[in-house]
Amino acid sequence: MLSFKDTVRERRSIRDFLSTPVPEAIIRDVLEDAQRSPSNCNTQPWNIHVVSGAKRLALAEALHEASEAERYTPDFFWDEAAFQGRYGERRREHGKLYYESMGVQREDKEGRRKASARNFLFFNAPHVALLFMPVIGDNVRVAGDLGMYGQTFLLSLTAHGLGGVPQTVLGLFADTIRETLGIPDDLKLLFGISFGFPSGAAVESSARMWRDDVLGSVTFHD
Ligand SMILES: Cc1cc2nc3c(=O)[nH]c(=O)nc-3n(C[C@H](O)[C@H](O)[C@H](O)COP(=O)(O)O)c2cc1C
Repeated sequence: MLSFKDTVRERRSIRDFLSTPVPEAIIRDVLEDAQRSPSNCNTQPWNIHVVSGAKRLALAEALHEASEAERYTPDFFWDEAAFQGRYGERRREHGKLYYESMGVQREDKEGRRKASARNFLFFNAPHVALLFMPVIGDNVRVAGDLGMYGQTFLLSLTAHGLGGVPQTVLGLFADTIRETLGIPDDLKLLFGISFGFPSGAAVESSARMWRDDVLGSVTFHD
């Protein structure tokens, strides 16, 4: 069993998986862990849809079509250009590392498009968990609760020897996903997490994303 510190340090976004499905009992255990996440007033607003097998194939096909047709239907605002200042700088550095780790040159537009399209094949993961939420006020608190859930889910995957990648990109096709899975319109899609057993190549190539020094994010007052 990994220590807490090792689990946190070992977790990283995995973008290549074995096709071997994760045994149901293990998925259940990860979901039990994630269910322990904290939430505002213990409201537990996460509504999780786990997609595997034939449904996963149907969803990948629907997402491929929707992305080719650029049929974007995000439930929540998303514009990378909105990240300004040091957040914009980090986003640009991330982009460089992201494509480098997939062996794609920055100026190779078609290569970047293909690499990005792997999101819709769930990076070959045999499962994807889709994190839906109800609409409550300006949604900020509820989205925070879903973030708590997502991180517990990801850490539990790592502790179980599995890997996952959170994907906002899936949320850009919320209507397609709801229609394919028969999910009501009043549940909004924040992001998805593709997950499974990491391939050897994934572990080799996964970019070790840097973090700013703690003091770049924290101010002490006493
Ligand atoms: C809410 C959220 C959405 C994300 N969306 C995507 C995505 O759509 N596609 C992708 O490849 N990575 C996505 N990521 C992964 C980030 O790029 C990654 O977490 C970040 O670069 C730090 O790297 P690490 O997870 O390996 O530590 C997302 C991460 C979060 C937390």
